[in-house]
Amino acid sequence: MRLTVIGTGYLGATHAACMAEIGHEVLGLDVQTERIAALQSGRVPFYEPGLEDLLAKHVASGRLRFTTSYAEAAEFGEVHFSCVGTPQKSGEPGADLRHVDAVVDSLAPHLHHPTLLVGKSTVPVGTAERLAERLARLAPAGADAQLAWNPEFLREGFAIDDTLRPDRLVFGLGTPDSAAETLLRQVYAPLLDRGTPLVTTDFATAELVKAAANAFLATKISFINAMAEVCEASGADVTQLSRALSYDPRIGGRFLNAGLGFGGGCLPKDIRAFMARAAELGVDQALTFLHEVDAINMRRRDRMVELAREQCGGDLLGRRIAVWGAAFKPDSDDVRDSPALNVAARLQLHGADVAVYDPKAMDNARKMYPSLGYAASPTEAAQGADLVLHLTEWQEFADLDPVLLADEVAHPRMLDGRNALDPQRWRGAGWTYRALGRP
Ligand code: UGA
Repeated sequence: MRLTVIGTGYLGATHAACMAEIGHEVLGLDVQTERIAALQSGRVPFYEPGLEDLLAKHVASGRLRFTTSYAEAAEFGEVHFSCVGTPQKSGEPGADLRHVDAVVDSLAPHLHHPTLLVGKSTVPVGTAERLAERLARLAPAGADAQLAWNPEFLREGFAIDDTLRPDRLVFGLGTPDSAAETLLRQVYAPLLDRGTPLVTTDFATAELVKAAANAFLATKISFINAMAEVCEASGADVTQLSRALSYDPRIGGRFLNAGLGFGGGCLPKDIRAFMARAAELGVDQALTFLHEVDAINMRRRDRMVELAREQCGGDLLGRRIAVWGAAFKPDSDDVRDSPALNVAARLQLHGADVAVYDPKAMDNARKMYPSLGYAASPTEAAQGADLVLHLTEWQEFADLDPVLLADEVAHPRMLDGRNALDPQRWRGAGWTYRALGRP
């Protein structure tokens, strides 16, 4: 099939390359000319394992092209995927739908024949219905320009696998058994043939599936981090607690790692947008618990700064602190709402001399926090340090030798914000090892 993918950020670039991989002809569109030039030459402007190879493979095969022209996209595509971002509004908890609206406004006037526009972005419930009306009103094809909602559940770091082998597909349709469903089934035929579960539903439910999924994941993380607070007060160990809970299949062990909590471009803004939308719908009470989820998450960052202060003898002023990790999670160069960088910046505000190192996120970190200190390796960051903070659990950090590192630092003190290092190994090498939620 001939597909277009509008918006070539994380979601769009991955979707475009994966749709080419399953056999479609794909045209990616973005309004950013530099991004399109990079993608057209086979370069991905962010770090995602395997994506650059997949993209380059299909640019070379001719199955994947890029453009900045909506007229060309409209002419080319049988199905158009909208993959633009829905960031948090500045100074408000709600989602900014400017880009989502702009896709409809820019594409619709070129739609003269029956077409399907498929939204993949995370949007407040009610958006698809509004967009479907707008599309039919603005498109010369009228009601033959249809909309469907097909939320995306990919994780950064696993984006290709999550797209090619998703847990489930969700099709939100304006009318049941519509032409839209037939087209979507054709697009995803290789995945459906493999037995991928499919839920076909209405617009509102499809939109809510995504909001609910991210709210649940955030809640699970904050639940274990709330337990970490109780562990800290009672001398218990949250990692053992979490392990013991995980054997109950009703609970499960995934997303139950206590530590510095969640960040990134999705979970924090999505739970806030969800609360804002619930308030608009008059059911704010239904989601008040998400306020607690958000608050627990933020308190972990406060606690990290406090523990750092404690470890430095009660005063951060002039202390040298190594921060390992800047990305919001490993295998990503994304620093949006990164707990690691947030803690690094707060330590600096308290007068500490901070040196940050991250395997992939250095450029993005420098752009966001130009005044922080940066080092070229974890060892360089640790040189002369009074304290080392492990804030993003890259494998590279777990592989370091604590014996060798002990010679580099001024004081061998490790604060593990991700409960990902082996305490015995570090203590055995002469380090003071402390972590969130553990004695
Ligand atoms: C999240 C969801 O997991 C995806 O399903 C969803 O599609 C995506 O948002 C989105 O809405 O686009 P992502 O933001 O890539 O994916 O990251 P996650 O793997 O969910 O991690 C989020 C944060 O939670 C990270 O900061 C991570 O360090 C933290 N986390 C995760 C924990 O603190 N503890 C855990 O046990 C798991």
